[in-house]
Amino acid sequence: MKSKKEKNELYLVNLTSDGSLLITRKSSGAIVFQTELSRLVYSDQFLQISSYTASKYLYGFGEHKEGILKSFNWNRLTLFNQGDLPVPNRNLYGTHPFYLVVEPGGNTNGVFLFNSNAMDALLQPTPAITLRSIGGILDLFIMLGPTPTDVVKQYTSIVGRTFMPPYWSLGFHICKYGYFSLNKTIEVLERNLAADIPIDVQWHDIDFMHRNLDFTYDPVDFKGLPEFVEKLHNDGRHYVAMISPGVSDVEEPNTYAPYDEGKKLDLFVKDVNGSYIHGKVWNTNYTVFPDFSNPKTPPYWAKQFDVYHLKLHYDGIWIDMNEPLNFLNGSDVGCPDSPLEDPQYLPGRPYPLRTLTLCMTAKHLKTEHYNEHNLLAYREAHATYNAIRDVRKKRPFIISRATFSGQGQWSGHWSGDITSNWEDMRYTIPSMLMFNFYGMSMIGSDICGFRLNVTEDLCARWQSLGAFYPFSRNHNDFDTFEQDPAAWGPDVIDATKNSLRTRYYLLPYLYTLFYKSHIFGETVIRPLFFEFPDDANTYSIDEEFLWGPSLMILPILYENAVKVDAYFPKGVWYDFYSGKSMKSKGEKFTLEANITHINVAVRGGAILPLQLPGKTTVESRTNAFDLLIALDENNAATGELYWDDGDSLDTYENENYNLISFSAKDNVTTTKVLKNKYISIMDLNEVKIFGIDTIKSATINNESVPSYSNSNYWIVNATGFSLLDELTISWT
Ligand code: GLC
Repeated sequence: MKSKKEKNELYLVNLTSDGSLLITRKSSGAIVFQTELSRLVYSDQFLQISSYTASKYLYGFGEHKEGILKSFNWNRLTLFNQGDLPVPNRNLYGTHPFYLVVEPGGNTNGVFLFNSNAMDALLQPTPAITLRSIGGILDLFIMLGPTPTDVVKQYTSIVGRTFMPPYWSLGFHICKYGYFSLNKTIEVLERNLAADIPIDVQWHDIDFMHRNLDFTYDPVDFKGLPEFVEKLHNDGRHYVAMISPGVSDVEEPNTYAPYDEGKKLDLFVKDVNGSYIHGKVWNTNYTVFPDFSNPKTPPYWAKQFDVYHLKLHYDGIWIDMNEPLNFLNGSDVGCPDSPLEDPQYLPGRPYPLRTLTLCMTAKHLKTEHYNEHNLLAYREAHATYNAIRDVRKKRPFIISRATFSGQGQWSGHWSGDITSNWEDMRYTIPSMLMFNFYGMSMIGSDICGFRLNVTEDLCARWQSLGAFYPFSRNHNDFDTFEQDPAAWGPDVIDATKNSLRTRYYLLPYLYTLFYKSHIFGETVIRPLFFEFPDDANTYSIDEEFLWGPSLMILPILYENAVKVDAYFPKGVWYDFYSGKSMKSKGEKFTLEANITHINVAVRGGAILPLQLPGKTTVESRTNAFDLLIALDENNAATGELYWDDGDSLDTYENENYNLISFSAKDNVTTTKVLKNKYISIMDLNEVKIFGIDTIKSATINNESVPSYSNSNYWIVNATGFSLLDELTISWT
């Protein structure tokens, strides 16, 4: 007899005596996993399993430089963290052995291979996938969805969900490799503030360090840095400093604690002979690497951050070069002969695995680098998270270049050293979308590009797009033009101001999406097919994207273009700025966008919480809120707002927050205060209503209030009312 639980399961499993496994979706019969295609191979350095896939709509298995939809034309996707430039058809900085497949009919399943060795996935036209790892075990998790969002929630319930970001990290960040002095940093910051660009976070790259040493700053060229950081704090801004995962080992004894203490605790990665393995990174001489798998390392690491904070009040930390990248192949003396150095099967490129990283035979506490390589950044991010949480007693903010499954709990990611060209700007959208599948919602790319010089047009378009990256930072290489917004003429400055004003206005909505990502595992940024899985037209779209379920971003991504042919899934949509409605049957509309404009559309059915923008998020958080009600075909809409102090630890867990839900039907909108535990002022300014022809009179809690038209929409004046009171807003 079947148990009740089995009856409710979404799948059927059939395992035959000859070892073939078939998992189907009970409701549709769709194949979820079927291994009959070939035999399982399970040996020490070669593990392989193949399965049919339900369709050719497969997403994930990154990090790679490509669109969201994978090719099944004998496509080899390699996962092995490596720090070289992002180029197509090559393994990049991160390893996420997880993919989603949209089945015929729109149900979605997901597969996670929990394995940290170098591996390949081979996509074949059948359609089928072969998963091939050169170590570890085969530990597969299969998720039945049935919606794409459900699959991501199920995956993140296994590996961990996005950290709750501090509110300030949702502001705009500026950075450059090569300010080379505090004076230059101040000059750049000041010119952007003078141009009225909202800036929340100032960053420093490696050049602010003393001889590129971790946990230092240059006492000559960056003299006065602690005072500068205090000034940032007093002005409501924050500061992020860089750390590399390796430390210099050629300092005079007792002059450089990160080395002295690591040596005393004997926690650096060793070579086969038991000496510390030497790489070459930014240090003047050689670099040694703390072994983050050694339980002695996290407390040692925390101590360095603690001592550092006494000198410099950093807020966030940028962990770079943590694939780890090594400018040498293996070590200063090469690597010994070993099957770990030269496995019989080599995933990906025809270069040894040790290329530009450590020897595969290098020794971590319990195993060789061969098995630990892809986990280094994960472990470093975890140690850094705990370290700075304990030092600052506030929410950590960490951005990491290398990543592994589940790292979203500890850090965000940016897409590394992309080039300042149109192609690379386009790639930043699939990069964001895919990291959201992986449970790493805090993701962005260097706005205006990292390598080479950007043009003015490209930078204007990129600033507009980048205002909608969850992590929005302009950063570039040392040998390029200065490309911060104020370094340009009015096009870039206006594009930046317009788009950032919109971003800051939308921050309560974005923050609520992060809460949903942190608690429930939803994506912050998502592709159209996540919301419209029944509409096959959406399956390959990655030149437009959604913030949550309700806001669509439609950037210009091609040189000289002033129009975008944008696909709108079926339903009512509104232009975010003008409220003009578009009824779509599932079709394209052509939208114009001059060089300082980016199109943004609101989906009918949404109520978005907004807050009048400020120069920083600290300022914007003191402003009044607006509500934007975008009615659907049935004159209905819903929404939600999560609100807390934006920086304290565990506010959700400790119930120190406010949660307010909104619901509109016909001509009445009600708000419900589901939780009111964060004491704050949440005054309303106005309520914008998209999708009604006219208002004769309006009331809030039975009090008459002024209302007026703004050509395509109506505004109800709500000053004097608070979101912390339950409101009934009606109009006739
Ligand atoms: C790496 C980082 C880049 C940084 C540079 C110097 O290339 O990816 O963002 O500017 O190192 O630290």
